[in-house]
Amino acid sequence: MSPETFWTGKLVLVTGGASFIGSSLVDQLLARGAKARVVDDLTSGRLENLREHLGNNTLEFFRADLREPGVAPAAMQGVDTVFHLAADHGGRGYVDLHQAGPASNFFLDGLVFAEALKAKVKKVVFASSGCVYPNFLQSDVKKELYLTEDLTKGPKDADNMYGWAKLMGELTLQAYHKEYGLGAASCRYFTVYGPRGVENHAVIAMIARAFTGRNPFEVWGDGTQIRNWTYIDDIVEGTILAGEKIGDGTAVNLGTMERIRVIDAVKMVLEFTGHKAEIKFRPDMPTGPLNRVADNTLAKRLLGWEPKVAFREGLKRTIDWYYKTKNREEVERVLVRMLTER
Ligand SMILES: NC(=O)c1ccc[n+]([C@@H]2O[C@H](COP(=O)([O-])OP(=O)(O)OC[C@H]3O[C@@H](n4cnc5c(N)ncnc54)[C@H](O)[C@@H]3O)[C@@H](O)[C@H]2O)c1
Repeated sequence: MSPETFWTGKLVLVTGGASFIGSSLVDQLLARGAKARVVDDLTSGRLENLREHLGNNTLEFFRADLREPGVAPAAMQGVDTVFHLAADHGGRGYVDLHQAGPASNFFLDGLVFAEALKAKVKKVVFASSGCVYPNFLQSDVKKELYLTEDLTKGPKDADNMYGWAKLMGELTLQAYHKEYGLGAASCRYFTVYGPRGVENHAVIAMIARAFTGRNPFEVWGDGTQIRNWTYIDDIVEGTILAGEKIGDGTAVNLGTMERIRVIDAVKMVLEFTGHKAEIKFRPDMPTGPLNRVADNTLAKRLLGWEPKVAFREGLKRTIDWYYKTKNREEVERVLVRMLTER
């Protein structure tokens, strides 16, 4: 028997629980003794991610679109905490080139929060994003900028429709907490990577390019863009701690403070995979903000959370997973489409 934890015996709903992050969260909540219900329409999630739990009495899985009549109310029954990760979401190519799909998140999030309130769940933990921060702050690569949570107070300039929906989701939860007493927390994830990640996100796309022997090796932008790629295990740990420790709707950054340039990440991928190729910059392709790194002081203070996995180490683990589990023909088949789709 595993030791008693905060989660032992609690029923949690993980919307979008078949996704990269959602399924890893399910693994960890189950490991802490929770029972999980997952509702996922599998538009980008994969049932395969939940394989080890399917058929066990600790996981209920429903394939359904939460926006369909009756689905969200049924999903909430008996639930203690909702982890809301379902979203119309993709990588940089998707977020820049598609606005209508991510706009559907306004409706999806609003519905999930309203039904959670009606069903009297104790808390909603929302998967928010670094995309809530004003784009105009993030355009100078020479600045040593760390985004602190208060920078979304205004003027607001979120990152595409996707970022606006995440910001409005956070604000809705804060209003629900203040006026209706709903327990709530938002976690602003910063560019997450790791096993089960998909090729529409930069790190996995880089690994996939090496895996399929691409030469020239394309890099979007001029490679000087800065990111703080954050390893999946750290993201999941922070999300669970937010579920335990934040109740007043506070939004907290979950991201490392490591500043990595895209070109340096590419060089590490080439080093670890042994792939040799000429690098071809594609300034015509979407890059997103040029300088995006979190300040994680608030997460340290409120959650006692600190990222444990440095980028070099996380990247090695991710490459190992990718090379062990992927099939070259299958990657060839999906790679180009995945760079701009979900
Ligand atoms: N990956 C990142 O770097 C990152 C960064 C910031 C925030 N996030 C957020 O984390 C969450 C998980 O993202 P992810 O990268 O693991 O993968 P993802 O985008 O594939 O996750 C979304 C999941 O929701 C499901 N879904 C979408 N619409 C649905 C609907 N109407 N009803 C039911 N299920 C639905 C999808 O099938 C998928 O499993 C998302 O909310 C995303 O916006 C991710």
